[in-house]
Amino acid sequence: MKTEIVRLLKETDGYLSGQELCSRLQVSRTAVWKVIEQLREEGYQIEAVRHKGYRLIQSADVMTEAEFSAWMKGRRLGGNLDCNDVLDSTNNRAKRLAEQGAPEGTLVTAESQTAGKGRRGRSWVSPPGTGIWFSLLLRPDIHPAHAPMLTLTAALAVAEAIEEICGLKAGIKWPNDIVVSGKKVCGILTEMSAEAEQVHYVVIGIGINANMTEFPEEIRKTATSLYLETGKKVRRARLTAAVMARMEYWYERFLKTSDMTLLKEAYTARLVNLNQEVVILDSRSGSEGLCRGIDDGGLLLVEEKDGRLRKVMSGEVSVRGIYGYV
Ligand code: BTN
Repeated sequence: MKTEIVRLLKETDGYLSGQELCSRLQVSRTAVWKVIEQLREEGYQIEAVRHKGYRLIQSADVMTEAEFSAWMKGRRLGGNLDCNDVLDSTNNRAKRLAEQGAPEGTLVTAESQTAGKGRRGRSWVSPPGTGIWFSLLLRPDIHPAHAPMLTLTAALAVAEAIEEICGLKAGIKWPNDIVVSGKKVCGILTEMSAEAEQVHYVVIGIGINANMTEFPEEIRKTATSLYLETGKKVRRARLTAAVMARMEYWYERFLKTSDMTLLKEAYTARLVNLNQEVVILDSRSGSEGLCRGIDDGGLLLVEEKDGRLRKVMSGEVSVRGIYGYV
């Protein structure tokens, strides 16, 4: 009922009478009033005027089905929602749902994570209220070797959504960090279940530093939030919906060739290291070269000192700008 009331209030210009709400939802006035109170507690500003009804003044910044429904209806990605308050990790929950047969496009969100996971076995601090933590379940009919490119696809979608909603110039640090003003605002962790030749499912976990007002000293030089960059709080559900819309577009293109052929140009245009010197940090050495973009398989092209083009695989190495994070 909450979702319905939010939807009706959003659709109405001006006041929506209590009577109208009761008859549309087939519930009592008391029931409507209780839900209005709950919504106010969540942060919705709803005016109630005698003989006129209810009017939505401002929505709350919450990651709930009620808030998403206006944007996600009928979407291939995000059409099936699983919104949670606290989870260990949205990736873990998405994997559990996948094993139980959840459809492609299932979107799992959490206000906070108690065991958020980062890449390379690191943890991902996910406090409530400020960040955007979600995982998207995909069931692509592709060879498992091609799945890592879905992380690049997601990075492109997130960068575009941030630009659209926040008006910020968002770059990509290959393979999948989103960078604003030289600092990381988003990380992506992709997990997969597959057999030798067939993908069962892929879970793309996305963490966006949305409305944080500060960061711990140790990461202040390399991390930022959308709020710190714009001075404005972003509506988290709105940005998530925009990511889904952009992902839908790029995922469809990805599936046409199962690789980056149709995404390469847009992705490369956002590479923060393009034509800059980068250091490839692998277990053996730290070799330098010029970043020349990506190939159709999503590998990073690095021109070495002798002019040879080296293809770098994600997971194998970490790439740094010669002066630091980018
Ligand atoms: C990175 O190390 O850059 C990747 C971080 C990915 C964090 C997100 S938050 C939502 C999803 N659930 C997780 O446990 N991790 C990802």
